[in-house]
Amino acid sequence: MSFIQELKERSQTTNRKIVFPEGNDPRILRAARIVKDQEIATPIILGKEKELWAINVDPIKGISDFLIVDPAESEEYEEFYHKYYEMRKDKGVSLEKAKDLLKDPLYFSAMMVKNGFADGSVAGAANTTANVLRPALQIIGTASGVSVVSGTFIMLIDTPHVPRDMLIFADCAVNPQPDAQQLAEIAVSSARTARSITGLNPSVALLSFSTKGSAQHPLIDKVVEACRIARKMEPDIGIDGELQADAAIVPNIGERKAPNSKVAGKANVLIFPDLQSANISYKLVERLANITVIGPILQGMEKPVNDLSRGCSVEDIVNLTAITVLQADQVSQSSSGKTKEESEVQVESKS
Ligand code: ACO
Repeated sequence: MSFIQELKERSQTTNRKIVFPEGNDPRILRAARIVKDQEIATPIILGKEKELWAINVDPIKGISDFLIVDPAESEEYEEFYHKYYEMRKDKGVSLEKAKDLLKDPLYFSAMMVKNGFADGSVAGAANTTANVLRPALQIIGTASGVSVVSGTFIMLIDTPHVPRDMLIFADCAVNPQPDAQQLAEIAVSSARTARSITGLNPSVALLSFSTKGSAQHPLIDKVVEACRIARKMEPDIGIDGELQADAAIVPNIGERKAPNSKVAGKANVLIFPDLQSANISYKLVERLANITVIGPILQGMEKPVNDLSRGCSVEDIVNLTAITVLQADQVSQSSSGKTKEESEVQVESKS
């Protein structure tokens, strides 16, 4: 079974509600139809019913079986803008501003997730990453023990000379210039995402343009320091750096450049030193190697919100929804008191 099929099947066992703030985008309505018909989740669509009917992506079923919410007309609108005002008044937000912002589906959906009306949210088909992230960061915030939200991509590899079928890239989406502490957190969060969503046994490489002191520069020092902090945070996970990309993933190069490293040559979670290198790398790999990428999967949020690329396909939306469902399931298992190990989804371990 393909990894994507497996994701969908796992999400079908859960029964989660996912809110789609961008109901006016036809791709969202098409994806929501698949999500509902395949029982991946119960979709909640934000928008005006009349406008959504006008888009009419499904002439047979239409949208009559969707739960549709118009933020400004909803029963929760007043409660939500008051809550937002209380949360943000110390940051200078007025009640008038709160009233305005909560008419915005991205703010309203974050409030729905925060208050348990939905288990997660998927947006970004029609909005920039920053616009999707800001309300989520302000309203939902980070999970306990986490200070940095970041974004990973699952890269599904189909190239004979790379001896693995999947790599995780991070942070390709959120933090323009993480410091050493933030980079360490990104490494640890990505290892956890790798394990829980993909079943990988994480082997984490902190990437640089140097391998084990082959070059000297303050930028390399940051990566070395991040590696030290990450190892302290998660001593049971294989984490190493600084490593060049070839030393990280190609076994004979890893052996030559970093002979004492348990990660070199075997890394499956690649942590880039900043957003420019990460974002450029994932897009180049996607386009040049013509491989399937899934993400960005936002990690570190108290409840899941995921961000699509504006160039996304219907299939991308369905896949990210399945992941959002699995993340929501984990949140609920963790809050019901299960241990980290128990709540991590059990899937066949891949190297
Ligand atoms: N983790 C946790 N909290 C954060 C983070 C983070 N990474 N970033 C910001 N916050 C917090 C802020 O501290 C702030 O908290 P507060 O208001 O309660 O004090 C809150 O979130 C809101 O922050 P803002 O100041 O409103 O937003 P900011 O200007 O910090 O921007 C943002 C945050 C939007 C994520 C910004 O860092 C950004 O634009 N990142 C780049 C996104 C991007 O363009 N990615 C590339 C494209 S994605 C792709 O190609 C797949």
